[in-house]
Amino acid sequence: MDFERFTIDDLRARNGFKWRRYGDDVIPAWVADMDFPVAEPIQAYVTGAAMRSDFGYPSKHEAEGLAAIFAARMAAKYGWQIPVERTVLLTDIVQGLYWGVLGTCGEADSAIIQTPIYPPFLRSVKETGRRPILCPLVMDEERFEIDFDAMERAIDTRTRVFMLCNPHNPGGRAFTRAELERLGEWVLQHDLVVLADEIHSDLVYAGHAHIPFGSLAPELMRRTITFNSANKAFNIAGLRVGLAVFGSAELMQAFSPYPERVRGGLSSFACAASRIAWQSCDDWLTAAVAYLQANRDYMTNFLAERLPSVKYCPPEATYLAWLDFTQSGLGAEPLDFFLAHAKVALYDGTAFGPQGVGCTRINFATPRYILHEILARMAAAVAQHAGG
Ligand SMILES: Cc1ncc(COP(=O)(O)O)c(C=O)c1O
Repeated sequence: MDFERFTIDDLRARNGFKWRRYGDDVIPAWVADMDFPVAEPIQAYVTGAAMRSDFGYPSKHEAEGLAAIFAARMAAKYGWQIPVERTVLLTDIVQGLYWGVLGTCGEADSAIIQTPIYPPFLRSVKETGRRPILCPLVMDEERFEIDFDAMERAIDTRTRVFMLCNPHNPGGRAFTRAELERLGEWVLQHDLVVLADEIHSDLVYAGHAHIPFGSLAPELMRRTITFNSANKAFNIAGLRVGLAVFGSAELMQAFSPYPERVRGGLSSFACAASRIAWQSCDDWLTAAVAYLQANRDYMTNFLAERLPSVKYCPPEATYLAWLDFTQSGLGAEPLDFFLAHAKVALYDGTAFGPQGVGCTRINFATPRYILHEILARMAAAVAQHAGG
């Protein structure tokens, strides 16, 4: 598996948003796509389907089969038995977050969100007219920590939902069993529903593990809607499919006030590619995670040597990392600074919540020589800025 196969010119020829948004002098490291070739079995399927002009409606069998394949994967990886009959296919995970908030949180109710956070968490609460309660994760020397005391102070009598992102984007945390169990106790104590976005679950590095929140205990499963897909780990985000697992029949009512067709239809390419990813691409995944982990380590060393003013915790999971430049004097929007002076496009920190001022998110899922170029451009820009 050649994760360094693509040149910058190859990547610029792509049609996706990552490489299209900025000019040809900019290297993008923002939206969460990987710059690697996808697994060969997925390529072979998509190429073959295109050659056959196989663009028809997806078969019901293919779509329904995906829930069972996902359930088998959860059982094999985590010993977690999920109800296939309560697993619903969605066009994407963000859609699921919106439906989840609409269905479990009333109009005057609030949802807890752990910032900095993947922006659609914030948008799904605000745009549906619900009230977000922001509970910042605290960045210490090694990792982002959950501040349970602050959560206890912030919760109010109208809080209905806890929005969990595990592994956490952009915090890079794969929360430990002890943390999740403590969170579980707290959720039970306050009678909250948990919307658990676990889309990065397959992208966890050595020394850490993914623990599905719903697998912790039956009483937690009952109050959890879990969202997942093959989209992040297998780099097929443009194909569009995800799924939601409802921990109880009552919770499933959350989606039922709206006719199913309001959620839109599914893509046949997405269903087939997800099936193939989950059934036949784990060798590719293992190699990709190893490559990403080496990229993370490369970046950790680079930042320590050449950009020591940035505050950064090496991610335990995901190919995204939070870079805190508040001590570097780059202003409120390092995104603008790096775009102008390094020709590198990072992700706007403030989109992740108020504590994103002076921060940014980097995507390190790119060939190492491109990662080096990104970091070297950033370090040169900061050095020049510091030199006045
Ligand atoms: C935590 C998280 N959830 C959801 C998504 C997007 O998933 P989808 O494209 O299926 O909506 C992303 C994409 O980066 C993500 O990081």
